[in-house]
Amino acid sequence: MDKLVIEGGQPLNGIVPISGAKNAALPILIATLLAPGEHIIENVPALVDISFTLSLLGRIGCPSLVAGGRVKLDTSRIAFCEAPYDVVRKMRASVLVLGPLLARCGEARVSLPGGCAIGVRPVDQHLKGLEALGCEFKLENGYINGRVDRLIGAEIHLDVPTVTGTENILMAAVLAEGITRIHNAACEPEIVDLARFLSSMGARIKGAGTSVLEIDGVPALRPARIPHRILPDRIEAGTYLVAGALTGGRLTISGAPVPELGAVLSALTDAGCDLEIDGDSVTITRSGPLKPVSVSTEPHPGFPTDMQAQWMSLMSLAEGECDVAENIFENRFMHVPELCRLGADIATNNNVARISGVTALNGATVMATDLRASACLVLAGLAAGGQTEILRLYHLDRGYERLVEKLRAVGACLTRVPDDARVPVGTLSEQRAVS
Ligand code: EPU
Repeated sequence: MDKLVIEGGQPLNGIVPISGAKNAALPILIATLLAPGEHIIENVPALVDISFTLSLLGRIGCPSLVAGGRVKLDTSRIAFCEAPYDVVRKMRASVLVLGPLLARCGEARVSLPGGCAIGVRPVDQHLKGLEALGCEFKLENGYINGRVDRLIGAEIHLDVPTVTGTENILMAAVLAEGITRIHNAACEPEIVDLARFLSSMGARIKGAGTSVLEIDGVPALRPARIPHRILPDRIEAGTYLVAGALTGGRLTISGAPVPELGAVLSALTDAGCDLEIDGDSVTITRSGPLKPVSVSTEPHPGFPTDMQAQWMSLMSLAEGECDVAENIFENRFMHVPELCRLGADIATNNNVARISGVTALNGATVMATDLRASACLVLAGLAAGGQTEILRLYHLDRGYERLVEKLRAVGACLTRVPDDARVPVGTLSEQRAVS
C-alpha cells in the first residue's frame, strides 16, 4: 500500500487548477440511469470513487468510456437492478442508485451501507422519502429490496437535510406522477448541479439550492443535448487555500466555485489571510501571524463538515485558542490524535475540539482514517518541520485528483512511495529539483 512522504516547510507559489466536484459527479453519473440512451458528462475528476461508480453502472448494464475528464455512458439497457455488497462497502454513495432504479425499473436491490469512519450514517430518510412516493421496502440479508408499481408525487418532510437522501428522492420524484415537494431539503451546490443536469434531461424542478424542492414529475427523460459539465470542487478549492495559508507564499486556485466558498473564505479572512478574488481565481497570501478562528460545521451555506479537519490543521498553528464544533457527523475527530502526533495541541469534548495554537509542528508517521482526515494530515505535513509519512494513502485517491502533482507544481516537496520503500531525508528535495 502506497504512502506519502512530505518534507515540510516549503512556501507554495503558483497556480492550482481546481477539478470537478466528486460529490456532484457521483449523483450525476448515476442519474443517467433515468434516461435511456447515450450521455456525455464533462469535467469528471479522475478519482477512485468515480471508477467505483462507473464499474457499478457497468454491472447494472451501462458501459462507459472515459477520455480525459469526459465520460460517455450508454444507459440504453438495464440488465441488473442491484448494487451488491462488495461495491457498497467500498463506496457508500452507491446507495444513490436506489431512487433511479426504482423510477426506471420499478425495482432495486441495494446492499445496506454500514457505518463508516465518520459516523453511523443511516439511510432512513432516503427510505422514508421513497416510501412517501409509493415504494415498498423489505430489509433482508443485509439488502434493501425495493419495489414500486407507480411513483406518485408527495409532500416529504425530511428530519435532517441529508445530501444524498435529498438526491435519491429527487431522482425518483422527477419520474413520479404529479407534484413532489421535499421540505427541509439539503441546499448544497452539488444538489443544484444535479437539478441542473436533471432539468437538461427534461425534468421540471424548482427551488434547487433552497430548503424546499418542488418537482413536477414527467413521464420520461431523454439524454441532455449538450454535454453536462460538473461544477468545480469547493472542498478541493478550500483545501488548497488552507495549504497556501499554512505554508506562506502566494498561491492561486483557478477555476474555483467562488460563490460556494463563502463560509471558508470569510473564515480565512478572519484568520488574517489576504484574499484576492478575480473571477473564478482566488489568490491567498499572509503577512502576519494566523489568528485563531472558531468554526462550527453546518449544512450549506454554513462552514462545511468536509473542511473541518483541514481547518484544524490551520488552527494548530494560530496564535491562541479556538474551538471547532462538528455538528453533522458524530465521529469526525479521528484525525485529532494524528495531528497531535505532529505536535498539535488539541483536546476534544464530545463534538467540540479546543485547539491551542503551537509555534511549530514536527514531522512524524501518521495514519489517515478517511478522506478529509487524510487531507488535513497532508496540510499539517506541508507546514511541519522535517519529514512526515502518511500511511493508508488510498483514502486521498478517492477525493483529490492528482494531489501530489498539483502540490509539487507549486513547490511542495512530497512523493508517493511503496509502503516498504525507505526514503532518506534529502531525497525528496533532489526529486523536486528534477520533477
Ligand atoms: N442522516 C440520517 N439519516 C439519513 C441520512 C443522513 O440520520 O437517512 C444523518 C447522517 O448520519 C449525518 C447527517 O444526516 O449525521 C448528514 O448526512 P448526509 O446524508 O447529508 O451525508 P451524506 O449524504 O452521506 C454527503 C457527502 C459527504 C458530506 C456530507 C455532508 C456525498 C457522496 N457525500 O454525505 O462527503 O460530508 O454529505 O455534507 O455527497 C466527503 O466528501 O468526504 C464526504 C464525506
